[in-house]
Amino acid sequence: MSADLLSTPLTRDARIEVPLIGGAMYPCGNPELVAAVSAAGGIGIVQPVSLTYVHGHEFRDGLRHIRDLTSRPVGFNALIEKSSRRYQERMTMWVDVALEEGIRFFVTSLGNPAWVVERAGQVGGVVYHDVTERKWAQKAVDGGVHGLIAVNNRAGGHAGPHSAGRLLDQVGDLGLPVVCAGGIGAESDFVEALCLGYAGVQMGTRFIATVECSASEAYKRAIIAAGEDDVVLSDKVTGVPLAVLRTPYVEAMGTRAGPLARRLLNGRRTKHWMRSFYALKSGIRLARANRDESGRQQFWQAGKSAAGVGSIDEVDEIVRRFVAAASR
Ligand SMILES: Cc1cc2nc3c(=O)[nH]c(=O)nc-3n(C[C@H](O)[C@H](O)[C@H](O)COP(=O)(O)O)c2cc1C
Repeated sequence: MSADLLSTPLTRDARIEVPLIGGAMYPCGNPELVAAVSAAGGIGIVQPVSLTYVHGHEFRDGLRHIRDLTSRPVGFNALIEKSSRRYQERMTMWVDVALEEGIRFFVTSLGNPAWVVERAGQVGGVVYHDVTERKWAQKAVDGGVHGLIAVNNRAGGHAGPHSAGRLLDQVGDLGLPVVCAGGIGAESDFVEALCLGYAGVQMGTRFIATVECSASEAYKRAIIAAGEDDVVLSDKVTGVPLAVLRTPYVEAMGTRAGPLARRLLNGRRTKHWMRSFYALKSGIRLARANRDESGRQQFWQAGKSAAGVGSIDEVDEIVRRFVAAASR
């Protein structure tokens, strides 16, 4: 193995040294964490709802605050699912401000990323799209994206149905770089993903258990203590399966939405407002749980990579360990 493993289409597209994306995280992605991933040689991704509503920055000021912490490239996450007109207008405004503030790397999720590709493309920006299956990957390719982020069944956040190996088989022949999202906790996971043929990794859970993340100590300790089986999928939070730690609170609440909610979530006409309803409810609940030190809320998102996380470390230390392992 050599340092060549670290030079990939992702490092060239994002203009970074280490093929590693610090994934967008609502509500954990505080500006200091985003900046720390970029400063360490990867690229931290700004989650706009997190930056503004949870961490209290006016959007442009928040981006400038991150810029004060690091001069390295940072990225922006655009969740572009069709929902209310107001949300879509706000997302368009955020993308435009991000471009004005010099952001050139975009991670899009859900929906059709073509309009982000079009806007970013005018100034040489690059768009990578989160996908869980080949049909969504094909749609993203048709929309002109520059790379794919393959979200597998071990990911934190909204996990996909397929393993990392199976997903690469499904989307690896579409002519674009593919990044592995899900299950990267230890340096051996990073090396394994690169050796499989991935152009890099996108990580969330590992970066919650860091000094720079402003989540509660109780949440960080719960990640360290968790094994594979302590991570479960719940559709009680956002209406679609979300990876959370199996705490007494989650067990008492159950992990499956009730039959009425399920019917509304599947209905063509009702699914958008039903998802908005869940998004609002879950947003408040997740943001509270993020900071709660009492342990009462215990509604903590994490992927199965939690099993490979053994301590609260500085971001730079983690990235240095990953680089050393891939350079051996
Ligand atoms: C707490 C948490 C919040 C997340 N929020 C978002 C989000 O708002 N937007 C998004 O595109 N992905 C989100 N993700 C997914 C991550 O960006 C990343 O793809 C995922 O965490 C990778 O899996 P890992 O947790 O095993 O590293 C979230 C993940 C976690 C753990």
